[in-house]
Amino acid sequence: MVEGTTHTDADPRWLQDFAERTKRYWTDDRLAALIGQRRPAILPSEAPLLLRCLGLLHRDGSMPPDRVRKYRQINHMVALLQPTLRELMARADTVRLLDAACGRSYLSTLVAWMFKHRYQYPAEILGVDFSSDLVGVSADRAARIGLADVFKTFVSPLHTLDVYGLENDLRDAGLASGAFSVACM
Ligand SMILES: C[S@@+](CC[C@H](N)C(=O)[O-])C[C@H]1O[C@@H](n2cnc3c(N)ncnc32)[C@H](O)[C@@H]1O
Repeated sequence: MVEGTTHTDADPRWLQDFAERTKRYWTDDRLAALIGQRRPAILPSEAPLLLRCLGLLHRDGSMPPDRVRKYRQINHMVALLQPTLRELMARADTVRLLDAACGRSYLSTLVAWMFKHRYQYPAEILGVDFSSDLVGVSADRAARIGLADVFKTFVSPLHTLDVYGLENDLRDAGLASGAFSVACM
């Protein structure tokens, strides 16, 4: 099992060391053993903090055997989403996505990472859930991964959520600047 993330993980120096350690760990041979001929969107050497914060990498940058399946699953999910994400980019200068009932925001965190690091395209992902605890987990993790500029959170039950009012509030607060596409991820 991957040990849980700790306060040590939040230390920027530790994070930088970890990123470098992970890049060194993932030699061509190790990568080939993990992905074969495929070219997944999210590689350990390119997304060390993301994968660490999703519980898929050890502190030494290696991937525990029991996490390999999950790693392949997340790349599969991202591959399925890519046509939709590209469509959204073709439609808007900034992609805005509201993840309704985001929970721990596992998938929207991946999407936020894709926009920031893979596409390098302006995006605002907003996770909404009525659990302030889960929203807190999502926000903390996004901050640790360096996604706080792309991924924001809001605590609210969905049935009272006024999306248009929320957009106005976010615009006034400088947190967003236009209409959101709403998705349950
Ligand atoms: C299965 S989880 C979502 C998982 C998330 N998509 C992910 O990728 O990690 C479902 C979430 O719906 C939230 N939820 C259920 N009913 C809700 C409601 N009426 N308003 C807001 N959130 C709600 C729960 O708090 C829970 O976090």
